[in-house]
Amino acid sequence: MAFMTPDSVTTAPPLLADTAIDDVDLAALAARLGTPLHAYSSSAIRQRIGGLQAALRGLDATIFFAVKANPNLAILQLMSNAGVGADIVSVGELRRSLHAGMPPERIVFSGVGKSADEIAGALTVGIHRFNVESHDELLTLQRLAKVQGVTARAAVRINPDVDAHTHAKISTGKSENKFGVSIDEARRWFAERKQLSHVQLDGLHVHIGSQILTLEPFRLALQRVAAFWQELEQAGHPISSIDVGGGLGVCYRAGEDHPVAAADYVGVIREALAGYRGRLLLEPGRYLVAEAGVLLTRVIRVKPGIERQFLVLDAAMNDLQRPSLYDAWHDIVPVADEPRPLTTYDIVGPVCETGDTFARKRVMPECVAGDLLLIKATGAYGASMASTYNSRPLAAEVLLNQGRYAVVRRRQHFEEMIAGEPPARHWETT
Ligand code: LLP
Repeated sequence: MAFMTPDSVTTAPPLLADTAIDDVDLAALAARLGTPLHAYSSSAIRQRIGGLQAALRGLDATIFFAVKANPNLAILQLMSNAGVGADIVSVGELRRSLHAGMPPERIVFSGVGKSADEIAGALTVGIHRFNVESHDELLTLQRLAKVQGVTARAAVRINPDVDAHTHAKISTGKSENKFGVSIDEARRWFAERKQLSHVQLDGLHVHIGSQILTLEPFRLALQRVAAFWQELEQAGHPISSIDVGGGLGVCYRAGEDHPVAAADYVGVIREALAGYRGRLLLEPGRYLVAEAGVLLTRVIRVKPGIERQFLVLDAAMNDLQRPSLYDAWHDIVPVADEPRPLTTYDIVGPVCETGDTFARKRVMPECVAGDLLLIKATGAYGASMASTYNSRPLAAEVLLNQGRYAVVRRRQHFEEMIAGEPPARHWETT
């Protein structure tokens, strides 16, 4: 993953942005809808889906989009129409997926902290499968399925103890992480599986982390899963599905990040799981949407500081948390069609903390107040992680498609932001 190291030590980023995305003129769009504005190219998303589906041809494989990456209803609808399912981690994501028209049999439920209410809700609608992460969860699933008189389909999430070589905060497959269970523990679950009257434990799941830019961690994790699947089958435990998780990385820094091609990634799956006859599930999030999205923002002012020059934008860490949370790099370019002289800025938002920084010592074309900029590759974990910190309303989101646009989240009004905050008038006792 590329971090916020200053440009001087590496290659410079591309300096000019496209002035249009999905044939929609960005300057006109920003003038019409205001900034900050999250914009997503539906053509780019469909292309990603199509590319991955093509790579999977010949396999009994289904893509389940990790909803957390971008839960906007219009995005989920697009996924659903393309035959993609949903990988959810909360009842909120379940309801969004159903609302967007996703059939329950195309929904899988992952996550380390599913509550009893969430499990019961998912059982009621009859989702495809639970990816179970602890023995307590397995027993809860059994108990609740019995109450409802249904059989839950379950996979055990294996923690393969593999280093994904990504940012520590988004690494999930090492034994020190909270996710999944060891192969030893999973072996015991299968040994006792006949005691589970209302859980059909016949799947394996693995997800080792996010923004992974090399094949080796995937290969290693899948080899461990493959060995375990074979061992289980020999022991008389048929495995009807293997969920290989998500994690495919994307390009945040042109010239520096070299993502794995979908075909090569699927090649590793084919090789590691050769001979496996059951169903394959994939749970990509970022790969399908990140590079299809941009955050449009305007320069509020250029502020000459004591040591540095600041470019103060109207977007902030509440609109895009990745730089402040993970020191993540995003290419930032002016929407302009003629070259300008270069200079160096710290690119910041208006929020009152130093962490509200999108880039440090970034080499950029010179900007003036009012200039429109693109923060690139914000389609995943952008709007989805936004907050109203500093009482800044949630930005609008717009879907672009071949020269046309549709507003898919209107800019939050002040009244919407304070809805649900009554004055402390009604005092009660417990
Ligand atoms: N499956 C499971 C069980 C997951 O936990 C995740 C992501 C995915 C699939 C999708 O992973 P992807 O294909 O998007 O890498 N906020 C962070 C990323 C957190 C990822 C959490 N889990 C970021 O902005 O980099």
